[in-house]
Amino acid sequence: MVSPTITYQFSTASVNYFLPEQLENLTALAAGKRLVLLTDENLFAAHAARLSAFDCIVVPAGEPYKNEQTVAQIIQQLIVREADRQTVLVGLGGGVITDMAGYVAGVYMRGIGCGLVPSSILAMVDAAIGGKNGVDVGLYKNMVGLIRQPLFLCYDLSLLSTLPQSEWVNGFAEIIKHACIKDAAMFAELQQRDLAFYQQNPAALQSLIERNMRLKNEVVVADEFEQGDRKLLNFGHTLGHAIENEYQLPHGHAISIGMVAAAKISENLLGFAATKAVEQVLAQYGLPTHFNYDKTKMMQLLKMDKKRSGNTIHYVLLNQIGQASYQSIHIDQLEKLL
Ligand SMILES: NC(=O)c1ccc[n+]([C@@H]2O[C@H](COP(=O)([O-])OP(=O)(O)OC[C@H]3O[C@@H](n4cnc5c(N)ncnc54)[C@H](O)[C@@H]3O)[C@@H](O)[C@H]2O)c1
Repeated sequence: MVSPTITYQFSTASVNYFLPEQLENLTALAAGKRLVLLTDENLFAAHAARLSAFDCIVVPAGEPYKNEQTVAQIIQQLIVREADRQTVLVGLGGGVITDMAGYVAGVYMRGIGCGLVPSSILAMVDAAIGGKNGVDVGLYKNMVGLIRQPLFLCYDLSLLSTLPQSEWVNGFAEIIKHACIKDAAMFAELQQRDLAFYQQNPAALQSLIERNMRLKNEVVVADEFEQGDRKLLNFGHTLGHAIENEYQLPHGHAISIGMVAAAKISENLLGFAATKAVEQVLAQYGLPTHFNYDKTKMMQLLKMDKKRSGNTIHYVLLNQIGQASYQSIHIDQLEKLL
């Protein structure tokens, strides 16, 4: 019996977090149940020896494969294996895999157990946490999905040894986002350090990941159905998503540009005084802070945003570092501010 590092209680389930842990212990984390692992080709190639001990379903890597076709293939593979309701499907990978594993586990036989082994920084601090899962349909991101909590998450930080540098940078955009909206002390720590420091200091990295895992869980547990604080996690994402979709920028880059824009709007509307510090910390972690986007096009996209209501758009702004709020901005005013 392995004891979890921490357990979070949601309305429908409790979720065990094991941090740090080794993926070799997965069977014990799943209380001895039969496991089927879902992973992508990159992870399977990079960790072949360690994964050979498990029954693995391997799918192509990347967002273009986060779709219903891949889901159908995974389900076929589960049927071939005669996976039953006692089987636990464990998603080992970045956010694409953890989203798909959560979704397939939620619909296969109307629901089997799910475990997650997040392997990218983004999945460790964000995507794997909170129970949201799903797949894209054509150009529509996360169009189909569920909110369903996994049984457990296993954080094996040694998997990060093969994470490409560009994915480290992407993941740190979400860490900086967390610091901006909720944790001024973490923001100060990030200012003192850089990516190379965390890559060379496993203890500091583990503590940073755990701090972000706890921060996201606390927000989600307090607001499971996104009525309040959970919306703050969208800081930088309103303009960020529009830029990401229109210009095919990496997610972290687009969010970084979105955070700088939101900081500037905060400066104008709320007297936020630390835009420079936000820009500096993003740049320090290899993220872009400016992008010459087509303002008219962006406004058209923002007008279609889910967060629009009538003539206003709900925007996450910063009152100060570590303290965010949700504000309604009139579309005409937003156009001027951008
Ligand atoms: N459910 C949620 O709440 C939530 C929140 C945020 C993001 N997401 C989703 O997460 C996805 C993005 O996640 P991501 O950035 O992790 O993308 P990803 O899963 O595509 O991983 C990025 C790349 O890194 C590779 N990779 C991951 N870990 C690796 C490792 N340890 N070693 C070698 N290669 C590795 C993957 O194979 C992939 O090529 C998006 O689909 C997004 O919608 C979901």
